[in-house]
Amino acid sequence: MSKIATLEIDGNKYEFPIIEGTENEFGIDIKALRGSTGGVTTIDPGYKNTGSCESAITFLDGEKGILRYRGYSIEELAEKADFLEVCYLLIFGELPTAEQLEKFDKDIKEESHVDEDMKKILDGFPKSAHPMGVLSSLTSALIAFNPGSVDVDSEEEMYGAIVKILAKFPVLAAWTMRKRKSLPLDYGDNSLGYVENLHKMMFARPNQSYVADKIVNDALDKLLILHADHEQNCSTSTVRIVGSSHAGLFASLSAGISALWGPLHGGANQAVIEMLEAIKADGGDTAKYIAKAKDKNDPFRLMGFGHRVYKNFDPRAKIIKKSAEEVLGSLGIEDPVLDIAKGLAEVALKDEYFVKRKLYPNVDFYSGIIYRALGIPTEMFTVMFALGRLPGWIAQWREMRLRKEPIGRPRQIYIGENYRAFKSISER
Ligand code: SDX
Repeated sequence: MSKIATLEIDGNKYEFPIIEGTENEFGIDIKALRGSTGGVTTIDPGYKNTGSCESAITFLDGEKGILRYRGYSIEELAEKADFLEVCYLLIFGELPTAEQLEKFDKDIKEESHVDEDMKKILDGFPKSAHPMGVLSSLTSALIAFNPGSVDVDSEEEMYGAIVKILAKFPVLAAWTMRKRKSLPLDYGDNSLGYVENLHKMMFARPNQSYVADKIVNDALDKLLILHADHEQNCSTSTVRIVGSSHAGLFASLSAGISALWGPLHGGANQAVIEMLEAIKADGGDTAKYIAKAKDKNDPFRLMGFGHRVYKNFDPRAKIIKKSAEEVLGSLGIEDPVLDIAKGLAEVALKDEYFVKRKLYPNVDFYSGIIYRALGIPTEMFTVMFALGRLPGWIAQWREMRLRKEPIGRPRQIYIGENYRAFKSISER
């Protein structure tokens, strides 16, 4: 690949360097574009062709279905690592030694209390409030109780904010579920591991002893690993751009949670189950829904299908599909929507419409089936996605701040009215 890109406008030639990443990716560095061309900019709605940054955290190859965190394959991490190790790997760049992991775990546990007054904020929400809206609000509200986590410039100050949010976020997430079930708020148990503690905070019942289930906790740990980072997706880009104004980590995460909520992004895992349930209620007629998905006049989309980057299978979907079959088998659960999901995928993957557009099942297509088998309510599915994505958001925010990236401020092409003089109301 050449090291220089040449642009010609009105007979004038402009040269721009081509930068190369470590995985055979190339980007035209247009930092000098507007200055050298007298103001010409680029347009790329949805940033389908535009890189926002150089990053060393996650590598995706959409054509080959490759996903790696800091060079380690998602397949190996899902099989051999636990979620807290992956949190450390994503944020600090290396798998932790036993000592590093022990200190990380201890530092997080020391921050696992949440100010009692936060409960007053939670009390203000109706039980019907969507957990993602509650979680985004509570994450932002945490700032008021942790003001020292806002202006963090040194690595040490950032570390303090990072362990705080890693500790408190699972508590807030569990509270969003318990609020809807009118259950007393649980603070968890520091004698447990990170994921076991999360599960206990979500499911412990007053007046009942809590019994941990290894199958459930292992499945949850794997799901969180699979969701942990995914380079510059919508919510991560949101975290980066909010963080680029130095609004602080918690404010940036609160914005990222809101972006993830959308049904085209993390909210798809809830939308998939709702879609599968609708198909089941409609007699399981998958052909009808495949036809609806292909009909340009029908707003229906096959939720959990398609991806901006993966134009081949989403490696996470493959692992989750296998895990769903294992978990349901181990727990002795027969869930008819799993068969409907498999049936839909089988038909779609042979259908010209989906093949031509390279639409494959994505991470959200099967994940809800496992969450449901683990007893997690549908409206909590995207909260589970946020719990998994937390370390990725943190890692990307930290990288952006340590690299001292400039404030994010895209340009535009104005297509509105030219100058016109003001008219008084009598003249209009
Ligand atoms: C996540 O970016 C990430 O990395 C995200 C994520 C992460 O880990 O952070 O991987 C998590 O968000 C996964 C995606 C979850 N969303 C869904 O499952 C919602 C359903 N999928 C789509 O809405 C869509 O596929 C997107 C949003 C995922 C991707 O959209 P793009 O890249 O903008 O593609 P597009 O909308 O321009 O679609 C291209 C074509 C269009 O048809 P034509 O106009 O070319 O005829 O494919 C069609 C679309 O109509 N299409 C679909 C479809 N997805 C795309 N048609 C039917 N069903 C679908 N699901």
